[in-house]
Amino acid sequence: MDNRPVGFFDSGLGGLNSIPYLNKLLPEEKVIYFGDTARTPYGSKAISTIKSFSIQIADFLVKNNVKMIVIACNTVSSTCVEMLQERYPDIPVVGIIEPAARAISRKCSVQNKIGIIGTKVTIQSGAYKKLIRRYNRDLQIFETACPAFVPLIEEGIVHNDIMDLTIRYYMDDFVLRDRLDTIVLGCTHYPLIRSNIERLYPDLQIINPSEEIVYRIKEILEEKDMLAGESDTENIFYASDLSENFINMINTIFKGVDMHVEFKNLEPDSV
Ligand code: DGL
Repeated sequence: MDNRPVGFFDSGLGGLNSIPYLNKLLPEEKVIYFGDTARTPYGSKAISTIKSFSIQIADFLVKNNVKMIVIACNTVSSTCVEMLQERYPDIPVVGIIEPAARAISRKCSVQNKIGIIGTKVTIQSGAYKKLIRRYNRDLQIFETACPAFVPLIEEGIVHNDIMDLTIRYYMDDFVLRDRLDTIVLGCTHYPLIRSNIERLYPDLQIINPSEEIVYRIKEILEEKDMLAGESDTENIFYASDLSENFINMINTIFKGVDMHVEFKNLEPDSV
């Protein structure tokens, strides 16, 4: 048994989309989350910048005695997993893409046409393709970056025509031309527009990495005999900037979730 918290981080608050799934699957586990809201988005930054921010945050989590590091961000996972695994050889470090790749290979066959959507960095890295091929070389994979989704979602422009048009701008050709039947939400923010995508393309199977990662967390904690028991510690959520937009996003993600949510503001410089 290990009651230390699980460390989660993301470029912002989109990574919070995984927390309700974790809470449901492993209710005893406590979380320390860091959202780099002051410096988000990472999705079109230079890889060297993403790497140095990630080291800063992961070091902060390790200083806070986490038993595991979960990279909830697709962009960071596509560029920094190996670097962070080498830096912390004694702590399991898991990225969001590998568990998603496993789920894709389990849920799809060679008949499926699978579309990955994500940030520019994630798509340019080819990480999804590479990791999916590790499990099944024959799956048909198509990828496209949708860089305008994140800023619109952060502005709360979600359930309206502007978002629908933007989705159609990026996805109509992609889905219809290539006759895709499966879409992978390869960015932490995209679960928030899942219902739009389902309405616009009702026949698509949707795979949500923010959910898939929690099954991998459970597997690792079980393998290493590190599951938590009952304790009275609380989840702690740190963000480097708590703007109104982000508070609204938190409220959307945690709507109807029965858990204690307390945010602490932390300057990126003090991380
Ligand atoms: N968290 C990022 C991801 O999953 C999206 C936001 C950003 O660009 O930083 O790729």
